[in-house]
Amino acid sequence: MRLVLVGPPGAGKGTQAEYIAAHLAVPKISTGDIFRANVGQGTPLGVEAKRYMDAGQLVPDEVTINMVSDRLSEGDATDGFLLDGFPRTVPQANALDKLLADLGTGLDIVLELVVENEEVIRRLSGRRTCRGCGKIWHVEFDAPTHDGVCDRCGGELFQRDDDKAETIAERLKVYARDTSPLVDYYGAQGKLVGIDATGPVEDITVRAIDALRSYG
Ligand code: AP5
Ligand code: ZN
Repeated sequence: MRLVLVGPPGAGKGTQAEYIAAHLAVPKISTGDIFRANVGQGTPLGVEAKRYMDAGQLVPDEVTINMVSDRLSEGDATDGFLLDGFPRTVPQANALDKLLADLGTGLDIVLELVVENEEVIRRLSGRRTCRGCGKIWHVEFDAPTHDGVCDRCGGELFQRDDDKAETIAERLKVYARDTSPLVDYYGAQGKLVGIDATGPVEDITVRAIDALRSYG
């Protein structure tokens, strides 16, 4: 299955992507994770991306599209994938459609995680991520047993640089302006399914998998 997850910052895309990709046995491809890995390694791509990420802005389309195109050409994505955080602009969506059409295929479904802004602000302000295994935690909603330590691997938890209040506000503005038009874009293709992304994480995973069963 070829699936895209769309939703505002903090909607729970990364959290749900892990479970849904495991359920479908497809690779999870997160552009945010790829950029963060490059930032961590200090690659030229990472140095360029960091300027935009720290400001809550999108990395330019051309850079992002080339990166995804390379990733999708890797063998593990041939039979399916879950994209988390891409596409995020209409030009990115057009590029993805073209890329897949050239491969003789297309997207099966675009799952929209629907959450209000007040809730995503609460989620982002308390988010912590594991340096070891990448597991996403929350200081209140999904707290590890010991402060700052991952239950799964014992790794250290950190707060993302772009989860500061002023950067969160900018990311939400950018989402409303540049990314929310994708709801109409994929709606017009008959591929969009919106699910309520509030409530316990496990309930949302069940809603997502039910939606895939009906549409995929
Ligand atoms: P990216 O990493 O994609 O960030 P984002 O879209 O802003 O999304 P987040 O990762 O912040 O949130 P999420 O929806 O994954 O939520 P999560 O599961 O963590 O992108 C970062 C930056 O990279 C961008 O700003 C941009 O600069 C650049 N970039 C990336 N892709 C790009 C592209 N295509 N084009 C251009 N630039 C790009 O959950 C959030 C918190 O909530 C966690 O603490 C979690 O534990 C908690 N939580 C999750 N579910 C629940 C629940 N049901 N109840 C309570 N808490 C919950
Ligand atoms: Zn861990």
